[in-house]
Amino acid sequence: MEWKWLWVVLVAFLLGRCCECERCWEQEKIALLQLKPFFTHIKDVKNYWVDEGKQSSDCCQWKRVECNTSTGRVIRLFLNLTTTEVYGDLVYNYYLRKYDWSGRDSWYLNASLFLPFEELKSLYLGGNSIAGCVDNQGFEKLSLKLDKLEILDLSVNQFNDSILASLSKLSSLRSLNLAKNQFTGSNLIEGMKRLSKLNKLETLDLYGNVLGNNILSHLDDFTSLKSLRLQNCGLKGTVNLREFNNLTNLKELYLGENQIGSLGSLFQSNEQLRLIKLEVLGLSENLFNNSVFLSIAALLKLKSLYIARNKLDGSIHIKELNALTNLVELDISDNQVNDFAPSKDNETELRLINLEVLDLGWNLFNYSILSSLGRLSNLKSLSLGDNLNGSINLKGLDALSNLENLFISCYYTKACSLSPQSLDLFPSLKTLQLYGVSFNGTLATWKGPIHLKNLESLFIWDTSLENNFLQKIGAMPSLKNLELWDCGLNGTLHSQGFCELTNLQNLDIGYNNLRGNLPECFSNLSSLESLYLYSNQFSGNISESKIPPNIESFKQLL
Ligand SMILES: *[C@@H]1O[C@H](CO)[C@@H](O)[C@H](O)[C@H]1NC(C)=O
Ligand SMILES: *[C@@H]1O[C@H](CO)[C@@H](O)[C@H](O)[C@H]1NC(C)=O
Ligand SMILES: *[C@@H]1O[C@H](CO)[C@@H](O)[C@H](O)[C@H]1NC(C)=O
Ligand SMILES: *[C@@H]1O[C@H](CO)[C@@H](O)[C@H](O)[C@H]1NC(C)=O
Ligand SMILES: *[C@@H]1O[C@H](CO)[C@@H](O)[C@H](O)[C@H]1NC(C)=O
Ligand SMILES: *[C@@H]1O[C@H](CO)[C@@H](O)[C@H](O)[C@H]1NC(C)=O
Ligand SMILES: *[C@@H]1O[C@H](CO)[C@@H](O)[C@H](O)[C@H]1NC(C)=O
Ligand SMILES: *[C@@H]1O[C@H](CO)[C@@H](O)[C@H](O)[C@H]1NC(C)=O
Ligand SMILES: *[C@@H]1O[C@H](CO)[C@@H](O)[C@H](O)[C@H]1NC(C)=O
Ligand SMILES: *[C@@H]1O[C@H](CO)[C@@H](O)[C@H](O)[C@H]1NC(C)=O
Ligand SMILES: *[C@@H]1O[C@H](CO)[C@@H](O)[C@H](O)[C@H]1NC(C)=O
Ligand SMILES: *[C@@H]1O[C@H](CO)[C@@H](O)[C@H](O)[C@H]1NC(C)=O
Repeated sequence: MEWKWLWVVLVAFLLGRCCECERCWEQEKIALLQLKPFFTHIKDVKNYWVDEGKQSSDCCQWKRVECNTSTGRVIRLFLNLTTTEVYGDLVYNYYLRKYDWSGRDSWYLNASLFLPFEELKSLYLGGNSIAGCVDNQGFEKLSLKLDKLEILDLSVNQFNDSILASLSKLSSLRSLNLAKNQFTGSNLIEGMKRLSKLNKLETLDLYGNVLGNNILSHLDDFTSLKSLRLQNCGLKGTVNLREFNNLTNLKELYLGENQIGSLGSLFQSNEQLRLIKLEVLGLSENLFNNSVFLSIAALLKLKSLYIARNKLDGSIHIKELNALTNLVELDISDNQVNDFAPSKDNETELRLINLEVLDLGWNLFNYSILSSLGRLSNLKSLSLGDNLNGSINLKGLDALSNLENLFISCYYTKACSLSPQSLDLFPSLKTLQLYGVSFNGTLATWKGPIHLKNLESLFIWDTSLENNFLQKIGAMPSLKNLELWDCGLNGTLHSQGFCELTNLQNLDIGYNNLRGNLPECFSNLSSLESLYLYSNQFSGNISESKIPPNIESFKQLL
């Protein structure tokens, strides 16, 4: 009997201890309160990091703090600002390619304040206008005690090159984000060399720092890197892929938003190429012409190629695209391409059987391009934004039965038309966006929507729809988002069609010429969250009883 009781007491004691240790450690709470005065511009810190009252004595419950649930030690600190908080009132200087921080008070950080957090794994300090560390209290101070620190985010601050040396002591780092700081100085190369001693570093983000091409020849030692972002870094002219050849683990390389025109032509022979794991290559917003495809032909593992807004023009050889056999995602939007040219050995169709996302928008293609897409049977997303003129015949695309997203626009020409029946080819369609596309042929004979059983989002803008379109919409009860914007709809909204859309969450029928009352059944659309009816001529009181229960604000009605 007595033994039994002893057990109960012992178990209760252990449980009690365990509850105790889930809570935050006193010395870490004190350390957080010491940090607080430097971060009161973060509302969560200002309002929630308080040591009064029972609830708030457990700092693991404080916002922006994450503890290990079994040890109660702080493992993540989110002292970062949201993008709007950071940029809300900052002006971007396009000439210098950076934000003008001059009106913002910068300050110096005492990194030693983080010393008590010995189990810290992730530290996010983005967006704080930090200009550097106070004398002798740099990040090197953390190197001995914070040996679990893996993620350090210092993005969007005003650190200069001198910070790099101290960061190079944090040998446990796997991911370092230095985007949008001010590394322009003369110590940059030396700093990078030191940083490359971080032999666990897998992700390095240098987005938006003016680095220049000189940096490239000093990246050799970052051999553990898997992801490198050199986007918007002031790179120009030729950036030879050879420079990255020693980064044999690299999977992602982002070079967008620079003024690069060539990647060199080194890799026509495979032996030289050691960049064999590269899967993602970001080249958008540069000066590449069609010859770029020859330079990357040997990147056989490439899955995603982003080359939007460059100087591609005329014909791209189908053979050069087909060489990238593993491609899953290809974005060549916003160039001047008009054709995929067959090659001598009669490759007339893209054979990229893994391709799931293809963006051809804003080029000069005419609809004959569609005949080269016929084999892309795994395609899920196709954008043909603003290319096509005249009547669009999708008939050749019957192999694309897995297509889930289709985007066609004719913003500028306003002169393309599509037969509604051709949409029946894509039974898996979830999102259909048609901007400025008119329907060729009468909708009256279109049984259409009944084939689009999975459609969740339908956006039709800037065209003229026959009024009976609205009645047909009811055949797509899966619809969640419906925008029929500036479609010349007139007359009244009938119950037939609309009232069946019980899953509808967002409805925008602005800029039409609809009149009369809303149908009674509107009050039954219980999933509706937003409703835009502006610029119509609805009359009568839009009585509250017709307003679906989840609409948050009447403002959205008018
Ligand atoms: C929490 O700490 C325990 C004990 O040190 C460890 O095994 C576990 O992996 C930690 N969990 C997290 C999410 O860090
Ligand atoms: C801070 O950064 C983390 C990790 O990137 C992110 O998930 C979180 O949303 C950010 N917090 C704010 C307030 O922006
Ligand atoms: C930095 O913080 C540490 C630890 O709290 C403290 O001992 C030191 O005096 C501080 N240094 C400065 C210059 O504020
Ligand atoms: C770089 O930042 C340090 C403080 O961290 C400062 O002392 C130094 O003057 C800065 N250098 C330049 C070139 O701005
Ligand atoms: C890059 O790799 C080549 C070939 O293995 C080697 O000779 C060279 O020393 C490497 N460079 C660096 C900086 O590691
Ligand atoms: C395309 O770019 C390459 C590399 O910059 C250049 O050598 C070539 O002259 C360019 N071709 C045309 C037609 O502009
Ligand atoms: C390509 O097609 C043309 C015309 O159809 C034919 O004359 C030629 O032999 C074909 N070439 C190859 C390599 O198949
Ligand atoms: C479509 O574009 C191709 C390639 O530019 C051109 O040869 C063909 O004549 C064009 N067709 C029409 C109908 O404009
Ligand atoms: C589109 O086609 C119309 C009518 O065929 C023509 O007037 C217009 O110039 C064409 N626009 C472009 C950009 O080709
Ligand atoms: C409609 O399509 C047919 C055949 O697809 C075509 O002959 C006709 O010119 C098209 N009409 C318009 C207005 O585009
Ligand atoms: C409504 O639109 C149709 C064409 O869709 C047109 O024939 C009719 O005149 C319009 N009615 C009014 C009142 O604008
Ligand atoms: C709303 O739904 C209920 C239940 O399905 C039905 O009885 C009622 O007639 C509907 N009201 C309108 C105005 O359609």
